[in-house]
Amino acid sequence: MSTFVDICALDDLDPERGAGALLGDTQVAVFRLADGTVRAVQQRDPYSGANVMSRGLVGTHRVTGDDGVERDVDTVTTPMLKQVWDVDTGAVLDAGGKDRRPLAVFAAQVRDGRVLVADTPTERAPAPQR
Ligand code: FES
Repeated sequence: MSTFVDICALDDLDPERGAGALLGDTQVAVFRLADGTVRAVQQRDPYSGANVMSRGLVGTHRVTGDDGVERDVDTVTTPMLKQVWDVDTGAVLDAGGKDRRPLAVFAAQVRDGRVLVADTPTERAPAPQR
């Protein structure tokens, strides 16, 4: 089971900007979204191998679900080669023509004005069977 680690105050994070944090030996990139919620993903960019994800660009991407319904998902774009991920699932939304390399996602929450991040990544849901 994951333990939640107190990273910083929510006020330490600028909206729509990332910050790097260290969880033991693990580097994570923590983002404060415009709505005041937070997300955390691995700091290492799976494509370039550089620890730069906290420098990524926060945004949204319109996707069409399996049910055919369009919705906006919160995203981060690597500063290196412009691949785009869903910050909630770590799924690649735009691989820039490369193979699909997901990001590890860490559960993150705000409690009493503090940002807490799980010390181990979230289990990835198994790929849907078709
Ligand atoms: S700081 Fe290195 S890619 Fe921007």
